[in-house]
Amino acid sequence: MALPLLSDAGGGDDDVFHAIAATLAARGWCETPHFLDAPTVEALALDVEAARAAGRFRAAGVGRGRRWELRPEVRTDQVLWLGDRQPGAAQQAYLRDLERLRLAINEVTRLGLFEFEGHFAVYPPGSYYRKHHDQFRDVGTREVSCVLYLNPHWDAAWGGALRLFLGEGGAEPHVDIVPSGGKLVTFLTREFYHEVCTTHRDRYSLTGWFRRRD
Ligand code: OGA
Ligand code: MN
Repeated sequence: MALPLLSDAGGGDDDVFHAIAATLAARGWCETPHFLDAPTVEALALDVEAARAAGRFRAAGVGRGRRWELRPEVRTDQVLWLGDRQPGAAQQAYLRDLERLRLAINEVTRLGLFEFEGHFAVYPPGSYYRKHHDQFRDVGTREVSCVLYLNPHWDAAWGGALRLFLGEGGAEPHVDIVPSGGKLVTFLTREFYHEVCTTHRDRYSLTGWFRRRD
């Protein structure tokens, strides 16, 4: 699973972006609490609530293009894709950080990340996303999954953990990651099956993928 490090990789671990890139290269996944500052997290959470109140979220499906379908036995979250409107200041700040992360990963690995696609997600109480993989059947351009959590406070007793399976082919063991506000979880998309455990509170996130060129 470890990625080959470029022999001439510069940068080092002296900023959070290169530290994440190095951890991804060495281990395939990385949990970074407080990646985003609290005011920006709160502003993004307010954006989510406003968009939700305006009815802009849609039930999430699985698959893509003609294969897209609702599968409530698989996932019951609601999503709002980025990009249909001018991003607000908080979203722009996060996208700037992601751009720095993309460049750091490209310095440290051979992934050749080219662009980012993403959506906000709301998991209402009782919802989940069963064990899955983030790659579509027919296209495999997603290289790194990035999940940013937006609830300013989260109690582990509320459920909603991200369960990441660390074994080969989605096998055990797993780690459960608490979706605390401002935390960023990154992982190599192809390498990890994962699941969103049933949540007992509204759970907000901004999930996306760095892709390579088609
Ligand atoms: C996804 C996903 C994880 C999370 O949207 O594909 O796995 O913790 N999200 O929200
Ligand atoms: Mn996923």
